[in-house]
Amino acid sequence: WRMLRWTWRITYLSVIGGLAYTGYGIYQNRTPLEQMDPDPSKKTLVVLGTGWGSVSLLKKLDTENYNVIVVSPRNYFLFTPLLPSCTTGTIEHRSIMEPIRNFLRHKKAAVKYYEAECTKIDYENKKIYINDESEIKGNSSATEVPFDMLVVGVGAENATFGIPGVREHGCFLKEVPDAQKIRKRIMDCVETATFKDQSPEEIKRLLHMVVVGGGPTGVEFAGELQDFFENDLRKWVPEIADNFHVTLVEALPSVLPSFSKNLIDYTEQTFKEETIEVRTKTMVKNVTEKYIEAQFTDANGEKQVEKIPYGLLVWATGNALRPMVKDLMSQIPAQKDSRRGLAVNEYLVVKGTENIWAVGDCAVANYAPTAQVAAQEGAFLARLFNQMAKTEAIELELASLSTVQEHAPNKESRDDAFGKIKDLQKRLRRVKSMGPFEYSHQGSLAYIGSEKAVADISWWTGNLATGGQLTYFFWRSAYLSMCFSSKFFLFICSPSRATAASLFVLGGKG
Ligand code: FAD
Ligand code: NAI
Repeated sequence: WRMLRWTWRITYLSVIGGLAYTGYGIYQNRTPLEQMDPDPSKKTLVVLGTGWGSVSLLKKLDTENYNVIVVSPRNYFLFTPLLPSCTTGTIEHRSIMEPIRNFLRHKKAAVKYYEAECTKIDYENKKIYINDESEIKGNSSATEVPFDMLVVGVGAENATFGIPGVREHGCFLKEVPDAQKIRKRIMDCVETATFKDQSPEEIKRLLHMVVVGGGPTGVEFAGELQDFFENDLRKWVPEIADNFHVTLVEALPSVLPSFSKNLIDYTEQTFKEETIEVRTKTMVKNVTEKYIEAQFTDANGEKQVEKIPYGLLVWATGNALRPMVKDLMSQIPAQKDSRRGLAVNEYLVVKGTENIWAVGDCAVANYAPTAQVAAQEGAFLARLFNQMAKTEAIELELASLSTVQEHAPNKESRDDAFGKIKDLQKRLRRVKSMGPFEYSHQGSLAYIGSEKAVADISWWTGNLATGGQLTYFFWRSAYLSMCFSSKFFLFICSPSRATAASLFVLGGKG
């Protein structure tokens, strides 16, 4: 009885404590403290982009040390891992967006935000050119912003490899409007296929959903789409059941090339069971309004070109450099051999520059272009900039103490200044000892449909490659828990907390 009583008390106190903590979080979120005004005597730090890298930096940056200006055409942060689920309505897009203004108002010193695209970085003259590309424009919609320090976190654009017709006829999957466009097109294909007197060939074409690119984006979208068909479309529109068909086209010999071999096999087997057709070693060379032209090698080793009709084409063949990043690279001789993005050193400084840093998909630091890498790089830069500000403050104090020591009227005050200098020098050494950026890989997760996921996770004893429904619950709960709170960056930085919080969100799909 005594044990029961104690268990009850502990549970009761935990629930009360949890509720109080949540209540305090909500109160804090709604009533931020008054912000300090920016100090024009401080260095101007311009941050480009509001994606994983830049937002992670902004979350941890002590903004009172700099005049911080953020420039991005997107005034919200997007939780990309759940974007494929928005294409079919499994997740509402608003749930994966976080207004940038909302978290900036919680910073100690105010941060300026301009909803604009940076069109050019003038490295030599330390300024950027920005354009308001939104629908509504005022008298001023193009201007320049000078900087002392610049962080480039503009991500990447969709790769098309110059293949004709892709931009005109395909859909990408990178931003919220892309997901909305896909969702609209899926339904349009279904409704058009059921239009009166539609020919059988046309019905087949309209209901053929082709995904090009067997990387994680293509695989996750194909899985979500097949789920949508099985769970909803098949019931809503039974007459399309025999013709609705998803095909995944991949140029390499397998899908998910960056995952372990057994997970690749598991994914391909699961797709087979889900009736998603996987066409590996097939490279799309041309896209027209109604079909794609794909090259493959037949059983005799001969190259063949096949025309594959489609209703919806989703193009997910990876990342390409943004023109503005290419232009910056062309201004810096040390970047001339870099092909995939801004080459950075171990402190994420753009090679060949002193005051420009790059994070995320636009930077080349020998890691895969993932949210995990971008978020860790952003957090590292925040620490670096906080340390740099501390170093400067200590150095200033040291200079003034040296003057005091020099002009000290007696031995006692000289010794006093000497003691303080010694302490400060020790602190300076500690502050300056920050090591280079080191990426800590927490693992890769991908949803493959039918409430199954695959995971390559770094474990205490090495790597754990696992797939199935339990992995799906892990995938779903980890990502939902990150998304649940507007403070999900806390979770990104602490996977153990994500796992703990995930216990609360295990449940049915939808
Ligand atoms: P982004 O997050 O793309 O942000 C770039 C920012 O720059 C945006 O705010 C954009 O508006 C802004 N910008 C663009 N042009 C300009 C300009 N000219 N001037 C100023 N600002 C500009 N990774 C994982 O680790 N796990 C996953 O599960 C995962 N799932 C994904 C699912 C999908 C569908 C996609 C597309 C990607 C996924 N990724 C995942 C990859 C991950 O999203 C990227 O690696 C990550 O977004 C890169 O962060 P970033 O900050 O470099 O760029
Ligand atoms: P990707 O670069 O990983 O894969 C693109 C695929 O398209 C490649 O396998 C390539 O061989 C194929 N391809 C290229 N051209 C082709 C053509 N003409 N015809 C047929 N196939 C062609 O791109 P993806 O999936 O967009 O991912 C981009 C980055 O985002 C990666 O680093 C990935 O790890 C990350 N990401 C991670 C996710 C996760 O961890 N769950 C989810 C989505 C993206």
